[in-house]
Amino acid sequence: MNLDSQTPEENWKPQDPITNGRLQEIRFWVTIMKEHALFIAAGLPCDQPQLIAEARAFFERFQALEDKVKQAKVISPKLLAEIIAAVKALIAFKRGLLKMIIQCQIRTAILPLFLDHITREAIHFLEILINPPKPLDSLQQILKRAVFWLRIMKEHIEFIIHLLDPSERQLIEQAEALLEVFRRLLETARDLESMSEADPRFFNAAVRFIFEVNDRTNELRDFKALTHELVVLCRVLSIIPDPVVTDHVRREADKFLKELEAFKSVTNICESLLSQNANN
Ligand SMILES: [Fe+2]
Ligand SMILES: [Fe+2]
Repeated sequence: MNLDSQTPEENWKPQDPITNGRLQEIRFWVTIMKEHALFIAAGLPCDQPQLIAEARAFFERFQALEDKVKQAKVISPKLLAEIIAAVKALIAFKRGLLKMIIQCQIRTAILPLFLDHITREAIHFLEILINPPKPLDSLQQILKRAVFWLRIMKEHIEFIIHLLDPSERQLIEQAEALLEVFRRLLETARDLESMSEADPRFFNAAVRFIFEVNDRTNELRDFKALTHELVVLCRVLSIIPDPVVTDHVRREADKFLKELEAFKSVTNICESLLSQNANN
């Protein structure tokens, strides 16, 4: 379902050139992958030196790739192949660990859902690397992406709740209120994504929803930034292994917000229809 009669390319004129946008996207995700390796290494028990060494090797591999993509003006096919191979290997490592945890072969401080979460993020990155860049030009695609991110945002809140000390009652209460909001948003996004398969000519309720998601994600982003500040200043009791964790989830919220900005520019035609209807 195209939102208007223009081609997707015309829709996306105000955006950065695809190569630039894609380069930034790759830079973002390579850093995220590097940090996932760090979190795994921090959560493995000391009686698993082999697995810890493997996680550290992934950290170094992605750190080297991070240096390369930071300096690169364009991603050469050789560099792209290198990144793809590293991401595929990291996915296999994460899945292997999750399997061992599920089967109680290893006992770690890593939540199984957290491993599943970071595996999904790696798969999402792999899809970006493998598929040619394509702007999200339909509400159906936008809603699909919103479902991906809302699930990620909801889980971040769940992880924060589990990492905070039970005595941090006020912060936990704040997080629980946000969790309720994001559970509802995720459920609605799934409903709307399913309804969008009917291919309506316009879908203003879904446009309104995207704007609501934007507002709520801003609130969540601020909560994550506050939590990060507390961790850095040593003003909160938690088992957060490194302040990178809270900064990481804050950056992922910022990434979602950036994508929501793009969604809003794609959907602004429907939005003007929406305000016209409201005025009449
Ligand atoms: Fe992540
Ligand atoms: Fe995440």
